Amino acid sequence: MSESLNRELAEAVGAEHVLVDPEVTIGYGTPWAAVDGVAPAAVVRPGNAAEAAAVLRACAGHGARVVLQGGNTGMVRGGVPASSAEVVLSTARMGAIEDVDRESLQVVAGAGTTLEALQARLEPEGLELALDLGARSQATLGGMAATNAGGARAFRHGTMRRHVVGVEAVLADGTVIERLGGVLKDSTGYDWPSVLVGSEGTLALITRLRLRLRRIERSRAAALVPVDSLAQGLALAVALRDRPAGLEAAEFVLPGTLRLVCDELDLRPPFGDREPADRERPLVLLEARAAQGAYDLLAEALAEHPEAERAVLAEGAEALGLWRYREGTGEALARHRVVKLDVALPLARLAEGVAATERAALDAAGPIHPYLFGHLLDGNVHINLGDVPDDRRAAVERAVLETVLAHGGSIGAEHGIGRAKVAWLAADRSPADIAAMRSLKQALDPQALLNPGVLFD
Ligand code: FAD
Ligand code: MLT
Ligand code: ZN
Repeated sequence: MSESLNRELAEAVGAEHVLVDPEVTIGYGTPWAAVDGVAPAAVVRPGNAAEAAAVLRACAGHGARVVLQGGNTGMVRGGVPASSAEVVLSTARMGAIEDVDRESLQVVAGAGTTLEALQARLEPEGLELALDLGARSQATLGGMAATNAGGARAFRHGTMRRHVVGVEAVLADGTVIERLGGVLKDSTGYDWPSVLVGSEGTLALITRLRLRLRRIERSRAAALVPVDSLAQGLALAVALRDRPAGLEAAEFVLPGTLRLVCDELDLRPPFGDREPADRERPLVLLEARAAQGAYDLLAEALAEHPEAERAVLAEGAEALGLWRYREGTGEALARHRVVKLDVALPLARLAEGVAATERAALDAAGPIHPYLFGHLLDGNVHINLGDVPDDRRAAVERAVLETVLAHGGSIGAEHGIGRAKVAWLAADRSPADIAAMRSLKQALDPQALLNPGVLFD
């Protein structure tokens, strides 16, 4: 990076927030759980929109490409540089949370605020963002908006798109745009949240967000249910979703994944020393929430389903123990080199589609280890394939994604396209769609400086 750019960046954010030592910057250049990374030319950490605008103006003036980064928990390499010539703009210093707007039940927070920090800030006020994900301690609101994150409660409350009601953002040339008013009815031209949520950092840097909140329902209960098949598990979750059981989450973990989580995290398999067969069945994790009595609500609902007779229920803090079998997947898989795919299938074809993708993976790569789990009522399947020979990685990815598309599914469910799945966008979106997206990109980032290689090749 040129001396003059370095100087301009230091003037913009202070020299201590321009990191150039490769020993330090390599951490920002290595995706979550990966071992291979690229040390960027620099990591710049603006504290607010004005500083970010100065950074982007300086980079634009020097034609320097910029990668936008929040918590770096993204799963499709969208927030890390592809080359050491790129500059990483980190939102780590943009974590300010403003006063809660109690009348509207909304709050404005900096893009670099982690989900966990927001949850901690709101909890005493009995409020929450009705979206949760396992990466809560690192994932930031800006990254969650950029990827339109989903998580475990999306079937009930929607993805990030449903929760962002205002944004402040900075375009590649340093222009600041903003619509943070938070009025419910606001039809005054293009809606920036609609344009920027899901844009994966290719159109603008989101610097602040106004979020829709809801009151916390303090009573929580969870059930871990071994089922005979994924189809049976889905039918059970659909039945509970459609009755007043207060269902807030319905996740699934297939046996191979449960074994890996228990082995890697040294967890006693669920169900204690009961029939080991229960460990060889698909598991459904259900969570109910209510103002009170969530446990009884869930127990009563399950009692109507003989197939759920082997369920284990827990409430309050003990429910977190049941969640560990599901949320431990990220940590357990981080120790393995896997082909990681994040797909969604129509519920009516979920079981058939999952079976077909597993067969396709095994046909394409031989005796590999498929680890499947996900968000049941979204049809969102996280497919992690272990022990795939290097020369079979592309073939197995193609076999699985083609099978998903053949079953009417999406090849990018909640993690986005990033750089990892750019080659597959055209398989899922029409040429007209992609051309229109490229026009929007061209209009807002004509020098193609933001997130080069993300979403588009
Ligand atoms: P980063 O990884 O830093 O960046 C992600 C993308 O957003 C990149 O393209 C980046 O350029 C862009 N970006 C980041 N900040 C901004 C900004 N301020 N303005 C514009 N663009 C920006 N995802 C789910 O959807 N659901 C889950 O349930 C889920 N569970 C997870 C569990 C674990 C253990 C892990 C490690 C990840 C999980 N993820 C999940 C993936 C990840 O947490 C999400 O994609 C999250 O939205 C990424 O946020 P981040 O701040 O880490 O973004
Ligand atoms: C999850 O739901 O656990 C995440 O999306 C992360 C993953 O796919 O590993
Ligand atoms: Zn997920």
